[in-house]
Amino acid sequence: MMSRRQFGALSLAATVPEIAFAQHAAVPGAVPVDTVWLNANENPEGPPLEAKEAISRAIGEAGRYNHRAFPAAGRQVVKVQLTKQFSADVERMAHEARKAGGGVIHLGNPNNPTSSVTPKTELRWLAEHLPPATVLLVDEAYIHFANPAEVESAVAYVREGRNVIATRTFSKLYGMAGVRVGFGCGPTDLLKQMQPFRNNVISILGARAAMAAVQLGEEFVRARRAVRNRVRAELCGWLDRKELRYIPPQANFVLIDIQRNVQEIIPRMLAEGVAVGRRFDSLDTWMRVAMGTDVEMEKFRMAFQKVAG
Ligand SMILES: Cc1ncc(COP(=O)(O)O)c(C=O)c1O
Repeated sequence: MMSRRQFGALSLAATVPEIAFAQHAAVPGAVPVDTVWLNANENPEGPPLEAKEAISRAIGEAGRYNHRAFPAAGRQVVKVQLTKQFSADVERMAHEARKAGGGVIHLGNPNNPTSSVTPKTELRWLAEHLPPATVLLVDEAYIHFANPAEVESAVAYVREGRNVIATRTFSKLYGMAGVRVGFGCGPTDLLKQMQPFRNNVISILGARAAMAAVQLGEEFVRARRAVRNRVRAELCGWLDRKELRYIPPQANFVLIDIQRNVQEIIPRMLAEGVAVGRRFDSLDTWMRVAMGTDVEMEKFRMAFQKVAG
């Protein structure tokens, strides 16, 4: 399970929140009090000061709904393996969508849990060769951390009037996972069709925080990306020295082949106070580790060395 298509379900991820959320990785039972959380691809830098201030200012409005507001049953799901380069197999996706008579092609760019991307030329080919009655949904939760030379945001395809939806979240680069806010861009007609499936509105605190965060502009994005990607490069250097294989990461987490059963290692890491990602389907020896602070990453390295080194 590395990439998947969901057919005939216009309600998309918003309708299956319990599996879409990173909280899926919730850890049962007691854990050491000083556990570092590298299991859910969050950002330890947390919300920008401006977003925190916006939330404080909005508290007085919290008695109100957000008046300027901003479920998939029983459909066939076809899972498509990634290519050997860990990118989406776009030709196969188009083929399967055509065979199914249309539906939704879901593609993470970068992809979770592999932290890999689908190159510009391949994604564009897919956007330009969508079979009839097919929507391409590109989840860009981690796109800020990817190499801009390799990826293209699907927002460009939406602007070109294609049957494409691009989704973003404030949970990753902006460090606002607990605020629960994100957005999607798509063609107006398609968004209108989805309207009946909308089952909530975002909180006014989330809306205010998100607006404050986006106003920080590119400079903030660049600075945050630089810190996360520096931590990531340091982890990769350490893995190289240990001769451990990993998929070259393009998101704020790394998928490492630890060459042993990850299911056994996860609880032992937790006992050392380090929460790493859960085991993923057909990836028995792969551990997903989110980028924490420098101190947290040092704790990860020490624990890993002790448990699996
Ligand atoms: C690809 C992808 N999209 C979206 C999300 C979740 O975003 P949100 O916090 O906005 O629900 C995650 C969370 O880990 C993710 O991996």
